[in-house]
Amino acid sequence: MSYTNNISYIKETLLVPRFYKTDLKALPQLNLKDFTLEFNSLLKEHRNDYNKYHFIYNPTATSLLKNNPMFIAFLLRSCLAEFSGFLLYSEISKNTRLITNKLLKKLFQVLARDEARHAGIINTYLNECNLNFNLGKLTKTRPYTYFLPRYVYYSVFLSEKIGYWRYITIYRFLNSFPKYLKHPIFNYFASWCQDENRHGDFFSLILKSHHHLLTGPLARLWTRFFLLVVFLTMITNDKEREEFFKVLGLDAFIYDLEVITHTNLVASKLFPVRLNLSSPLFLKTLTQFVNTFKNLKALSQKNPTSRVLFLRTLLKCILLSSKLFLLEPIGRQKSLFKELYI
Ligand SMILES: [Fe+2]
Ligand SMILES: [Fe+2]
Repeated sequence: MSYTNNISYIKETLLVPRFYKTDLKALPQLNLKDFTLEFNSLLKEHRNDYNKYHFIYNPTATSLLKNNPMFIAFLLRSCLAEFSGFLLYSEISKNTRLITNKLLKKLFQVLARDEARHAGIINTYLNECNLNFNLGKLTKTRPYTYFLPRYVYYSVFLSEKIGYWRYITIYRFLNSFPKYLKHPIFNYFASWCQDENRHGDFFSLILKSHHHLLTGPLARLWTRFFLLVVFLTMITNDKEREEFFKVLGLDAFIYDLEVITHTNLVASKLFPVRLNLSSPLFLKTLTQFVNTFKNLKALSQKNPTSRVLFLRTLLKCILLSSKLFLLEPIGRQKSLFKELYI
């Protein structure tokens, strides 16, 4: 089967990982000088290249999921997400204007190296499923989404950190319950997630070195917005793949709650706010949102469907996500107070 020219297997929707572009002119203006030591030590860590020999295909490892369409869809999406990271980092590192900022250029190069390996190993296992996913061709056929640099920093920081928690949570679970380990790709996750964690640290440093991105009402608003968008995107994606998570022995929603709880906490060390996930109202609204989204998805696949019912469900989804956004977050001071005294 060939997927050289399309990704029809996973259909282009809002939830499919996108390819991103940003304003390359703004990047050389990044001021790293207050954190030069930290950036250099991060570069040194990346150059140690702990995972140089990690992503090597093992043809003898047995897979019980080779012909499972849900697993193949999981591989395709993951491959797209990793490749999307590679494209963005690689494009930035090739930016000729970065000649004045060699440190930044080198860091983006090592990030692109890691993402290429991640996409590469997934693609190898896709080949094993007789899929030829031509990533090079996709760069010419798929549309790119433009993001302003400051939004790239917030969203990519969160994506990398959430990626870490997704991989490590699955790895730890399968390590404790090996009967669910049905494909060798999961054996790569322990070291793989360390790459994502380092990538997240890099974007954390970029944000720290630009204080205005982390302070003030606008920063509070944007960080709150991106936390919610990243979490809801993951939860709605996984809701569609509940059956796949069951094969891994996981309940998708419980798994997602674990992942967002950790990511929210990690982000609170940097962001001025974190979402109040422990509030019963937040959890109740989140559950309602997830169920309404599931209904919306079912309605969109129904043929014929009632337009009025579809629009009403869509409106309910929008209202519930707005309600989640408006629920009061926890400020950094309050969260520090809690950590110190509770
Ligand atoms: Fe990655
Ligand atoms: Fe990454």
